[in-house]
Amino acid sequence: MSLYLVTGGLGFIGSHLVDSLLAAGHRVRVVDDLSTGRRDRVAGPIDLLIGSVTDAPLINAAVADIDGCFHLAAVASVARSNEEWRETSAVNLGGTVTVFEAVARRQGGPVPVVYMSSAAVYGDIEALPLSESGPTRPLTAYGADKLACELHAHVAGTVHRVPTFGLRPFNVYGPRQDPQSPYSGVISIFADRARRGLDIAIHGDGHQNRDFVYVADAIRFLSSAMQAAGVSAPVANICTGRTSRIRELAEIILRLTGSPSTIHHTSPRTGDIPRSQGSPALALQLLGIRAETALEDGLLRLLQDAGENI
Ligand SMILES: NC(=O)c1ccc[n+]([C@@H]2O[C@H](COP(=O)([O-])OP(=O)(O)OC[C@H]3O[C@@H](n4cnc5c(N)ncnc54)[C@H](O)[C@@H]3O)[C@@H](O)[C@H]2O)c1
Repeated sequence: MSLYLVTGGLGFIGSHLVDSLLAAGHRVRVVDDLSTGRRDRVAGPIDLLIGSVTDAPLINAAVADIDGCFHLAAVASVARSNEEWRETSAVNLGGTVTVFEAVARRQGGPVPVVYMSSAAVYGDIEALPLSESGPTRPLTAYGADKLACELHAHVAGTVHRVPTFGLRPFNVYGPRQDPQSPYSGVISIFADRARRGLDIAIHGDGHQNRDFVYVADAIRFLSSAMQAAGVSAPVANICTGRTSRIRELAEIILRLTGSPSTIHHTSPRTGDIPRSQGSPALALQLLGIRAETALEDGLLRLLQDAGENI
């Protein structure tokens, strides 16, 4: 039994990770500032510290007796990162450096840190599938900060001997994603609107491709990465390697829910990337796993979890 710190542990992905760690018999400490996190997302016993990952004394205390850290806390919104550049960077990059430094300086010596980067580091790279050895060209403050986190992970490893593993998730979906947030993933918004019989708006022609990953698969990557963390600061995609069109996604959701909602198209969003597809090869090599849940199966589980009668 180990003690893990999960920053952002009351968020969408973090809460699933906490559940899985508790189910495996581990003890869990969570640092979360409740900005998008909710206490009721986690039912099991946790040591909850409410505060920010940018608060160095809090993080220093939080890492004192842990066996490893999963760092997920972030302002996970591309739009907000562009509107509130300095404030979000202070959390997305500054918070990560705070975690790395606390772990580097802790009394018992460094412990492994698994942290969330993002597929946003690729930006508008056109050569698909997107692979970790290829170029990065973030288009947003969020993506730039996530890429900087990876660079700091190298510093953490080479200068301070902190073992890390960075993960670049593509579009993660599943239960507990907040459909009310304007920043939420497209799946939670479509599913919520379909359930309520409201029309579904697609920006542009709906031919945009995305690589959707079911949350339970993402949790397996996080857990495996804890064993694979190293001072060489490895980084791997969390993706399926398959893509689905946004229009097709909306149609599957309407079919599964039997919803009377209709689909209509609005003007394309500026900067919307037409295609995004990750390569799962390196994760398979480093972690020995791949994201296996088929989109329709994941959607069924999401809709069932939300109490849909299908
Ligand atoms: N959901 C995705 O598709 C996706 C894709 C790529 C990367 N990621 C990354 O995965 C991680 C989790 O994302 P999510 O989708 O669960 O988002 P989320 O917003 O549901 O979770 C983030 C959590 O961090 C907390 N938080 C935010 N700022 C904080 C701060 N300053 N101090 C402490 N806690 C703070 C929030 O309250 C929330 O509980 C993030 O790092 C995100 O950038 C997510």
